[in-house]
Amino acid sequence: MILTVTLNPAIDVTYYLDTLVRNSGLRVDRVLERAGGKGVNVARVAAACGADVCATGLAGGRRGEQLRAGLGIRDEFCSIEGETRQTVNIVETGRTGLPTELREPGPAVTAAEWDRFTDRFSALAAGADVVTMSGSLPPGVPAGAYATLTAVTRSVSTARVIVDTGGEALRLACAAGPDLVKPNEGELLAATSTEGGRLHRVLSGASSLRELGASAVVVSLGRSGSVAVTPDGRWRVSHDALTGGNPVGAGDALVAGLALDAGLPAGALLQAGPGLQAGAGSDWPGALKRASGLAMASVLAASAGEVDPAIAERCAGTIRIRKLT
Ligand SMILES: Nc1ncnc2c1ncn2[C@@H]1O[C@H](COP(=O)(O)OP(=O)(O)OP(=O)(O)O)[C@@H](O)[C@H]1O
Ligand SMILES: [Mg+2]
Repeated sequence: MILTVTLNPAIDVTYYLDTLVRNSGLRVDRVLERAGGKGVNVARVAAACGADVCATGLAGGRRGEQLRAGLGIRDEFCSIEGETRQTVNIVETGRTGLPTELREPGPAVTAAEWDRFTDRFSALAAGADVVTMSGSLPPGVPAGAYATLTAVTRSVSTARVIVDTGGEALRLACAAGPDLVKPNEGELLAATSTEGGRLHRVLSGASSLRELGASAVVVSLGRSGSVAVTPDGRWRVSHDALTGGNPVGAGDALVAGLALDAGLPAGALLQAGPGLQAGAGSDWPGALKRASGLAMASVLAASAGEVDPAIAERCAGTIRIRKLT
């Protein structure tokens, strides 16, 4: 079972309009509202690929109920007093640029609510093969939350742990020894201090996260693909850049793909033994190809957390992987 953790989920509201003009009144052509949050996207993509998935996290108020009702995944969210946030995405249909995202901080979480959650999490993690932890932390949840949950997972199971976040939460999580972390370029650079050209900065930033304690690091670079720094070597993943799609949630699809490879009995990474730090027989290029295919398919899908597995497979066939020496 893949257990996804979303501590700061959201109701995602997407406004479609021709062009965003500041300081003006704009007509919105279409509004889409759905349960969101990075871990929820991971859960949806993994479920679309046929995995057994369970979603947990914190949800509260009217939007919390809306989120849980619209989940479509086994719901193990914990209730909190505060109101779950909403996230506004503005997609400019008259342009092919990146969407504009407005992210609220999220509800305040009390110490008692956080304690209740960690108890519930411990029971769920005991039955998991893979645990993914994604996104920002709401106010009140300690910065070391993902480190704590990684340690809890280690104490109750042999599940692989994948963390997708940035900044201080990422640095602290690494120290708890997750199997894999997946920051995007901005998140990596916010957590590490490196200099030089783009690839050099990414590689040395990723290496410094491994020095902190993460076993493997995959840094996603948007349309430029990704870089993996693992105990078995380093790889550069590249593919065609897609224009006009919706890149929000592509990183979540990448995480879902890596979780599938870590969780499926047929997954090459699992065959190689506990942890993703597999020795001989580990198939990072294969895993990266499959996961990147899902990421590309998510760009081609209408909204975050959606993928067509058949399209993902076709995309995976176009991905180029180069081992870095
Ligand atoms: N325009 C694009 N064309 C092709 N592939 C893309 C594009 N944007 C993203 N991808 C694929 O998706 C992966 C993840 O994208 P990105 O680095 O944008 O993740 P992210 O910033 O974590 O996204 P999010 O947090 O919204 O899920 C990339 O490594 C790449 O393989
Ligand atoms: Mg991301």
